[in-house]
Amino acid sequence: RIVRLADYRPPAWRIVRTELAFDLDLDDTVVAARLELTPGESYAPGAPLRLDGEELALLDIAVDGQPLPPARYALDGESLTVHGLVGPCVLETRARIHPARNTRLEGLYASRGLLITQCEAEGFRRITWFLDRPDVMSAWRVTLRADRARFPVLLANGNPVERGTLDDGRHYAVWENPHATPCYLFALVAGRLEGIHRDLVTAEGRAVRLAVWAAPEDIGRCGFALDAIERALRWDEQRFGRTYDLDVFNIVAVQDFTMGAMENKGLNIFNARYILADPDTATDADYLAVESVIGHEYFHNWSGNRVTLRDWFQLALKEGLTVFRDQEFTADLHSRAVKRIEDVRLLRGRQFAEDAGALAHPVRPVQYREINNFYTLTVYEKGAEIVRMLHTLLGEETFRAGMDRYFADNDGRAATVEDFLAAHAAVSGRDLAQFARWYAQAGTPQLRIDDEYDAMRGRYTLRIRQHTPPTPGQPDKQALLIPLRFALYGPDGEPVAAAAEGDAVVRDDLIELTADVHEIHFDGLPAKPLPAFNQGFAAPVRLDYAYTPAQLGRLARIERDAFNRWEALQRLATGVMLRTFADPRAAQAALSDALGDLLDDDAADPAFVAECLALPDFDTLADQVPQIDVDALLAAREELLDLLAEDHADRLERRYHALADLAAGGLDGPAMAARTLRNACLGWLARLDPHEALAQRQFDTATVMTDRLGALRCLVRFDAPGKDAALAAFRERYRHDPLVTDKWLTLVAARPQPEAVEDVRALLASDWWTPTNPNRVRAILGSFARMNPVAFHRADGAGYALLAAQLPGLDAINPQVAARLLGSFESWQRLAGPRRALAHDTLRGLDGKLTSRDCADLLARLLA
Ligand code: ARG
Ligand code: ZN
Repeated sequence: RIVRLADYRPPAWRIVRTELAFDLDLDDTVVAARLELTPGESYAPGAPLRLDGEELALLDIAVDGQPLPPARYALDGESLTVHGLVGPCVLETRARIHPARNTRLEGLYASRGLLITQCEAEGFRRITWFLDRPDVMSAWRVTLRADRARFPVLLANGNPVERGTLDDGRHYAVWENPHATPCYLFALVAGRLEGIHRDLVTAEGRAVRLAVWAAPEDIGRCGFALDAIERALRWDEQRFGRTYDLDVFNIVAVQDFTMGAMENKGLNIFNARYILADPDTATDADYLAVESVIGHEYFHNWSGNRVTLRDWFQLALKEGLTVFRDQEFTADLHSRAVKRIEDVRLLRGRQFAEDAGALAHPVRPVQYREINNFYTLTVYEKGAEIVRMLHTLLGEETFRAGMDRYFADNDGRAATVEDFLAAHAAVSGRDLAQFARWYAQAGTPQLRIDDEYDAMRGRYTLRIRQHTPPTPGQPDKQALLIPLRFALYGPDGEPVAAAAEGDAVVRDDLIELTADVHEIHFDGLPAKPLPAFNQGFAAPVRLDYAYTPAQLGRLARIERDAFNRWEALQRLATGVMLRTFADPRAAQAALSDALGDLLDDDAADPAFVAECLALPDFDTLADQVPQIDVDALLAAREELLDLLAEDHADRLERRYHALADLAAGGLDGPAMAARTLRNACLGWLARLDPHEALAQRQFDTATVMTDRLGALRCLVRFDAPGKDAALAAFRERYRHDPLVTDKWLTLVAARPQPEAVEDVRALLASDWWTPTNPNRVRAILGSFARMNPVAFHRADGAGYALLAAQLPGLDAINPQVAARLLGSFESWQRLAGPRRALAHDTLRGLDGKLTSRDCADLLARLLA
């Protein structure tokens, strides 16, 4: 079954109102549904109604109050077809489902005594028969009935309207969601939960109760999440003019959850790791992730819920846009430069690899076999980059007007990427047809820039070529509209303003590239300038310009754009590691000098300095080379880091100690930044023999998780004598906390030693291995496959074999989790040496053993 964008038809029926009544129980739940149906745009009189439904046992069926005779309907494993419906009618069904047996965690499932739903993308069909497609939007009334002792809290979408006791001693709650909402945004939660709440009034004067719900033992760690909701709500009012539209906003933390979180209308459900936070169990990075994910889901209320998707091909319409919104939220509240650096790190380390590998696909795919396989870095992160480019091209004010227009024109509708671009085109007066190619073309564009300086005429010329490499199914690419931010620096280190002329639109700091090749002249320059390109990483492209080490060292000091100062150092380090500079010694010296200056600069934001100290990781390096020679990349990286650590031992130690007092503060920005830099320094120092004691001391005396985990990571990474004792102490201290236990497991599974294969095998045989819990699977196998190139790519293929051996079993439990892990092989075709054949054989060995549509689809694409 292949679904194609080109085959989209509006629905034959609409469901204008849906009433559901649940008799909830972990093992057996009965779902009564009452659907008010009306003919839709493509209704053909006499045509049967086909509803989606999976793993549902039919108890009753009636139309307009009359039981339906068997001749009028047909059931199969995927659908319920009803014949002989003419015009508006009411269809009623009752179905039995089994939440406790639902290990896929799609539809209604049980987790630690709670009942929870996850419907996006196509999970609602596992709850009741429905038109399970996002362009069918309904008003909802939901009644939940359950045993009061086991399920004291009963939550669903929208506003609570009624609650009470039933004759049989159970209790019930009724919820109404008046907003037209597709079924992928349906949610319910029932169980023994505690809540904390806060009442506020929105900018439009609506009284809203915000609440966070969690298991009783976790409720003490929800305060930060509640604050974060309020920050998100206020930020969306101020920055985007979006206000909240219900009387309550509930979020719930659950331990068993496949993804990060879900934006169900008025009832967001979260993986507990993105809600729970206190200093003893969460790192500073965890706090920021909590705030960002809470923002993301909250912002979906407009970008996703009020304006929803016409079909799943439009996924990036809500995800790319909402990631852009959550990135801006974090940038506005914290350091914009640091946020940008981290987002680009993720994009280049992971999304570029996806775009260059066997699973490459456009931000808006044109076909899928399993939509769950398209919740990817490309749809989310590259999708956000497209929105960011639009923002760059239009500027904040016009972009905001375009967003207002988009929300106004599409409120209550199921929209497309075209609708989004049309709104921005309308307010800006720009033709965005070429820009739209970003949604259609896969692959990372490459910019090659050459320059020339004519001293006689004082003329500086840039020649810029763009090229997007072929990707599966897309051999030839067209030129994209690329906003290239740039600056030219004069000998005094100041930006020079020069009149530009050429075949591209050049506006002060921005060149709009539209053709394969452009030539641009700048006149009146007394000396050859030092060019800086792609400031802020305004365009998600690879940029090839032959900088010398000296130029990069200079850029690292003088570039006004903080992102690009960081980028200059990344380039310098990458060039040294990959040995691409003509004079490697000069390059290394330039890098070392620049890092030394940064470490000496007590006025610079310590968090920014820490980012600069984090030189390119394995994924980023692997992305830069046509053939991945794992051993060579790892060795080159270690060699350089060791040398730099020696160069700067004194400086690193000075900063480490000097920042101690500041780092002892709370969750304020300066204290967090100080901890970040201190732990970065520690990571470098731990490379140098006598300094292991420093990590040990930090571990022994740490009072917050950031410092405890930072120290433990150093001990593990550099195989310190105290490593095993520290790991054991950490494990025992937190053995009852699944999220912190996951951190310990991640350290073990990501230990950069070939023997980590055996360690992981031991974990898989221990009680710590709970394959039904996605976080645990990711902590052990995800960390191993994605964060441990040393062991995963072990030369004998044992790493590949270990992962592959787990996949059939995991696939039978939770196909989405298994498919994610299978995706770790996405770059196998670029592996150098025998590893390529080993990985290939491993994948071929899985053929026929992975039964889900998710894994079968991925495997076929990996092997195509
Ligand atoms: N829409 C959710 C988000 O906020 C992700 C849900 C993904 N679910 C899935 N089954 N793939 O990004
Ligand atoms: Zn999202």
